[in-house]
Amino acid sequence: MGNKARTVILISGRGSNMLSLVDAAQSGQCHIDVTAVISNRPNAAGLGSAQQAGITTRCVDHTSFDSRASFDAELAKVIDEYQPQLVILAGFMRILTPEFTRQFEGRMLNIHPSLLPKYPGLNTHQRAIDAGDVEHGASVHFVTAELDGGPVAVQSLVPVLKDDNADSLAERVLATEHQLYTVAADWFGRGLLKMVSNGGVLCEQKLEKPVILRNAQLEGINPAWQKKLTSAGPLAK
Ligand code: GAR
Repeated sequence: MGNKARTVILISGRGSNMLSLVDAAQSGQCHIDVTAVISNRPNAAGLGSAQQAGITTRCVDHTSFDSRASFDAELAKVIDEYQPQLVILAGFMRILTPEFTRQFEGRMLNIHPSLLPKYPGLNTHQRAIDAGDVEHGASVHFVTAELDGGPVAVQSLVPVLKDDNADSLAERVLATEHQLYTVAADWFGRGLLKMVSNGGVLCEQKLEKPVILRNAQLEGINPAWQKKLTSAGPLAK
């Protein structure tokens, strides 16, 4: 297996996805090396957890910039100091300019708490409940200029229960996000997941639809890939 992918993680708040990725990377379950965590908010709780885990942290405070373009340009400069092969958005709540997304296209992943293309944007859990959905979940996708619109690689599914509210549903989805993101980052780190011509490619084959992760099992994958995708990393038995 090749070297671990040098990775920078961007956060805006709590950072539970970031911390689960850092834990998995440090325990050898995810083939990435997290070299820095960057927040756009100086008081993001995740900065403290990253420091406790021994990770370098930086802050590029968006409130000190007078335009989206100037903030994104500075953020890109700070990211570039670490020469990352992978940039992970983990609860990074900023709309990014096309210049920024172009610069990192093919090596930037985001996690979004809905089954994209359903519910891009905010309040995804309430929107799923209001729509009467019986299933909800999270998506990991490559970031392109379109908000929450890049190719989706893998999705986790959870049932929506009769007495769910947005908070209870968010909590169950979040638990799956941690595993989902670790799986996707591990695949990217091992060179199994790529973006080619604006589409997801897994094990050298174009993904016609996202891979599904349900109860820690993969669905919708070519059986020939099973071993490659699960023999190392977070799904290894
Ligand atoms: C996660 O649920 C993530 O999917 C969501 O923010 C939360 C961050 O939690 N991201 C988005 O809504 C992006 N559009 P965390 O800081 O504990 O990882």
